[in-house]
Amino acid sequence: MQTQGSENKIVILISGQGSNMQAIVNACEREHWPARVAAVVSNRPDAAGLAYAAGLGIATAVVDHTAYSCREDFDAALAACIDQYSPRAIVLAGFMRVLTSAFVQRYAGRLINIHPSLLPAFPGLRTHQRALDAGVKWHGATAHLVTNDLDHGPIVAQAVVPVHDDDTEVMLAERVLEQEHRIYPAAVRALVEGRLQVRGLRVFVRPMQEVSA
Ligand code: GRF
Repeated sequence: MQTQGSENKIVILISGQGSNMQAIVNACEREHWPARVAAVVSNRPDAAGLAYAAGLGIATAVVDHTAYSCREDFDAALAACIDQYSPRAIVLAGFMRVLTSAFVQRYAGRLINIHPSLLPAFPGLRTHQRALDAGVKWHGATAHLVTNDLDHGPIVAQAVVPVHDDDTEVMLAERVLEQEHRIYPAAVRALVEGRLQVRGLRVFVRPMQEVSA
């Protein structure tokens, strides 16, 4: 049931710089989403994004994966932390842990991720170097709902970037990241506003309500 206003809470999971988290936090504020980012949680105590969130008064937490002997125990602790906020959306933003199927099932339909390739091409890691090595002329990013099929969930949004002859991995990564910061906030907004309709692997995104005159 979609609650109105800022009761629609978002919890964002990060592992590092958190640039996608920052883009979402800023868009949520700037565009006055009917939601708020209730917490930013990281599996790494040194994640730079934690300081950014704390600086904005957003609750932060660390569930350090090295403190747990198995994925199941880590995921259970992470879920306990997340459930304090009863979020409508759990947003993986540069979150570098593979989640167990129990965790994914617990949050089915509310769990979204950003992957730096045009899925289903280049699932997994080091996508930009693999794209260069494969000689593709177009590369990009994909926002998708998370399922147990790693990096293969229903696609919510994609962005395409050209691959230039003189591209390095870093240059291509920067071009893709810029697009991530554009499509991911829009995808998360659609999720929290209940505008996603999933049919199999297809996601139909209803347009934002026309602002009533
Ligand atoms: C990005 O390329 C994202 O696609 C991947 O992690 C990288 C860093 O993301 N999931 P962020 O800057 O930490 O949001």
